[in-house]
Amino acid sequence: MTPDTDLDPDAARAALEWLIELGVDAAVGDAPVDAYALPDHLAVPKPAAPAPVAEVTDPVAVARGAANAAKTLDDLRDAVTAFDLCELKKGARNTVFADGNPKARVMIIGEAPGRDEDLQGKPFVGRAGQLLDRMFAAIGLSRTTPDPDRAFYITNVLPWRPPGNRDPEPAEIAMLLPFLQRHVELADPDVLVLMGNAACTAALGQRGILRLRGKWAEAFGRPALPMTHPAYLLRQPQAKREAWADLLSLRARLDRLA
Ligand code: URA
Repeated sequence: MTPDTDLDPDAARAALEWLIELGVDAAVGDAPVDAYALPDHLAVPKPAAPAPVAEVTDPVAVARGAANAAKTLDDLRDAVTAFDLCELKKGARNTVFADGNPKARVMIIGEAPGRDEDLQGKPFVGRAGQLLDRMFAAIGLSRTTPDPDRAFYITNVLPWRPPGNRDPEPAEIAMLLPFLQRHVELADPDVLVLMGNAACTAALGQRGILRLRGKWAEAFGRPALPMTHPAYLLRQPQAKREAWADLLSLRARLDRLA
């Protein structure tokens, strides 16, 4: 509709009121109007953009990808150190990867760093670790010797200290399992020693160390011996007798496989 410029103000008002009475609620000119492109005070508010769908990160899949990309133990150490999806890392001072001789025939898997290990960045350096060194020395194994036949290599299920040394949660074990599995593949030991429930949960999918200990099983495709954790032996010295029997079983197995 072309505006009628001849209308006097009274006639224009009367015409407008009549149109409003008819129900007209918008003035439309001949030229199309982009209501979104009007100056801000006249513009029609734009409909809100739909909220972006949050991308879901699967930490186990990320860990598996990073672990499988590692071609050497050094690569794997870097991959574990760079992994940011586990909350435990935020509260830890150090990533505790491994100690001992990576060429050893025996690889020991513990639970998680405690206070001393978190401070020093090495597994099993506190009281439990000192007992562990004495136990393995009694069957001729040490973490410092270069001879793979007389050495052991040692790591933990979790590379970061849980707050207050609480037990690892199943979700934490599952998240870090791809790194442990790759660790075993790359170190390629003849036998594994699973120290305590967390190691048995990760490697065998089973708990109940007092039932499992001393019975050879298979984990990550190789022989694995569950044993009571040295921290347990510090609290329950009477259990050292059975631990000694387990060490002798390990010695016999190594001699047989040699
Ligand atoms: N207990 C563990 O299981 N691992 C350590 O490194 C120290 C104590």
